[in-house]
Amino acid sequence: MNERLRSINLHKKPNHVAVIMDGNGRWAKSKGMQRVFGHKNALTSIRESVDIASELDIQYLTLYAFSTENWNRPKLEVDTLMNLMVSTLKKELPEFMKKNIKINAIGNLNQLPSNARNTLADIIKKTKNNEKITLTFALSYGSREEIVNTIKKLCKKVVNNQLKIEKIDDKIINSHLYTFNLPDVDLMIRTSGEQRISNFLLWQMAYAELYFTEVLWPDFRKEHFINAIIDYQNRERRFGKTSEQIKVNE
Ligand code: IPE
Ligand code: IPE
Ligand code: MG
Repeated sequence: MNERLRSINLHKKPNHVAVIMDGNGRWAKSKGMQRVFGHKNALTSIRESVDIASELDIQYLTLYAFSTENWNRPKLEVDTLMNLMVSTLKKELPEFMKKNIKINAIGNLNQLPSNARNTLADIIKKTKNNEKITLTFALSYGSREEIVNTIKKLCKKVVNNQLKIEKIDDKIINSHLYTFNLPDVDLMIRTSGEQRISNFLLWQMAYAELYFTEVLWPDFRKEHFINAIIDYQNRERRFGKTSEQIKVNE
């Protein structure tokens, strides 16, 4: 792994990596266990991803933990996920402090049960001055819900004469999204072999590089994260320009 790590070009790192942590249920089933066993084994993968992002000095890591659509899962699974979230956040707080990690959350947080919401608010407050890395959890998050919410906020401002329609542009929209304090996503990783976006950061991923791996989330380790970064570095991000233009500016 160290050799792979050394092949990373430190001048060409993504600034914001977003991860769709998928495959917990299938991982558990493959071991003859209940789906929730997979969720319980997701923590090591989260820790490893945070640690390697921190080692590589990647400033923003965003993890898709629960989607607006995930509310439609069986009640037992939803309750277990919520309880796991509360216990994990509480347990990890000393680590967040030690590792200088700032916790952030995006999504329709009002929909979360009150203990989850309160724990989250407490952890966000306690870690707010940390600055090594911003770790964002997407919880009860759906990109369409976020966009609808943003449109409502903008409409209210227009109706109240706080905003002129002509002034609405990318920047204004960005500043009203849940991700107002995050940069665009550079690299999106999805585990478990599924090749779809599942309502995650549609606006913010407009120009992200997409990386799909067969590895199931509970098996995801630092070396897999490194593989994704190396793959990313071998791509040419053209943003609409020609290859020649990009090479001149490098
Ligand atoms: C990802 O794993 C975790 C959440 C969506 C909360 P899944 O639970 O979707 O696992 P699979 O995709 O069914 O294997
Ligand atoms: C996406 O995974 C949401 C999270 C990882 C939290 P899902 O497993 O819910 O996605 P679909 O339904 O297979 O697209
Ligand atoms: Mg899934």
